[in-house]
Amino acid sequence: MKLADNKATLSFSNGSPSVDLPVYHGNVGPDVVDIRKLYAQTGMFTYDPGFLSTASCQSAITYIDGDKGELLYRGYPIEQLATNCDFMETCHLLLYGNLPDVAAKAAFTKRVSNHTMVNEQMQFFLRGFRRDAHPMAIMTGLVGALSAFYHDSTDINNPEHREIAAIRLIAKMPTLVAMAYKYSVGQPFMYPKNNLSYAGNFMHMMFATPCEEYVVNPVIERALDRIFVLHADHEQNASTSTVRLCGSSGTNPFAAIAAGVACLWGPAHGGANEACLNMLEDIQRMGGISKVGQFMEQVKDKNSSVKLMGFGHRVYKNYDPRAKLMQETCKEVLTALGLENDPLFKLAMALEKIALEDEYFVSRKLYPNVDFYSGIVQRAIGIPVSLFTAIFALARTVGWIAQLNEMIGDPEYKIGRPRQLFTGSVRREVQPISKR
Ligand code: CMC
Repeated sequence: MKLADNKATLSFSNGSPSVDLPVYHGNVGPDVVDIRKLYAQTGMFTYDPGFLSTASCQSAITYIDGDKGELLYRGYPIEQLATNCDFMETCHLLLYGNLPDVAAKAAFTKRVSNHTMVNEQMQFFLRGFRRDAHPMAIMTGLVGALSAFYHDSTDINNPEHREIAAIRLIAKMPTLVAMAYKYSVGQPFMYPKNNLSYAGNFMHMMFATPCEEYVVNPVIERALDRIFVLHADHEQNASTSTVRLCGSSGTNPFAAIAAGVACLWGPAHGGANEACLNMLEDIQRMGGISKVGQFMEQVKDKNSSVKLMGFGHRVYKNYDPRAKLMQETCKEVLTALGLENDPLFKLAMALEKIALEDEYFVSRKLYPNVDFYSGIVQRAIGIPVSLFTAIFALARTVGWIAQLNEMIGDPEYKIGRPRQLFTGSVRREVQPISKR
């Protein structure tokens, strides 16, 4: 970051002396006012619940221009990455800052493939869960448990440990998600097949059984790979910030990523893909497209807590570029599978059309986000609705680990310790129980 020529001056109407605060430029995007010395100089904190105006760190990984609807990984537009690169290239880019050439890609892919199996004992840990446990409950447990199995990569201050933990996490997430699925349907776990692509191997572990040969459908493989690319990173979102905050205490990388998985689960974040599909199915059950108007009235009613899931975003005040790409993939997959007339896809298009013209959505700049179409694609591929968020976690793991490693390498990093505006009782004395 570069110190700007200008500075910010904070003045007070009660006569307290004003303070000058340094301003920094990034390479693109809003400048920041450095308030780190504010408390020492004024005895005051800033107040910004929800981080509406707060940059929590400096980062060189992902940039979003929410007004333009632009998303860049390491400077490359998501549209170009989704069209020209696969997930392994994207992982290399996010982790190391550059797109690999043919040899570097092969070496990276081989390295990841070498770590796709999980310790056999993980199966017994998994078996402790109820069969009907939510996959995200299982994933939170399994990812956290990795630290109990890979003792040689738990020192976050050791660059070699961080490196191997990153590779292990990227390699093992598909295995864990597929194991959680197989466990829920009572089928045998399928071991990874390292001659398949990252997405192809995941499909094999999900859908193959030991009884029959399984052939990966290339259209679905490509669609899944694109889902992974589109979800790989997204700047300082809630789960990434959780990973950073958790990791800032010096905890091991597996524990920090498990915290990210837990945060992602919520319906305002990664859980929105599951919630969105459930919403579409509910509307379909109520009567489908003919009930869209009625549903939208509920969404707009401030007394109902109904939201149009898959719509709106804290940063995008324009069409989420990932949603456009996802809509494209949705059409491709449905056509390839002969599901062009899929009623949920038609319903989603009808909802989108109404929302994009409706004053409520237009005035609030609410557009479809990545979760609006991803559920329809995943459902068509044969992934159960309850597993959608786990797929998101699988894909986001590379972003989490890249951001965590970036933070540890940042000389300005400190343990994250927000402060508060206290609104509880001031000091009072404890009375004996008989007098309370
Ligand atoms: N449906 C109806 N109204 C909405 C929606 C929606 N999906 N999203 C925002 N609004 C309204 C909100 O009620 C508020 O209205 P008003 O100004 O009258 O009070 C206004 O738009 C601003 O919303 P906000 O809640 O202040 O915005 P936020 O930045 O705090 O929340 C959000 C962002 C993503 C949590 C929210 O838009 C939302 O809950 N969307 C649905 C869930 C969803 O699709 N989440 C996935 C996000 S993208 C993937 C990811 O990050 O994981």
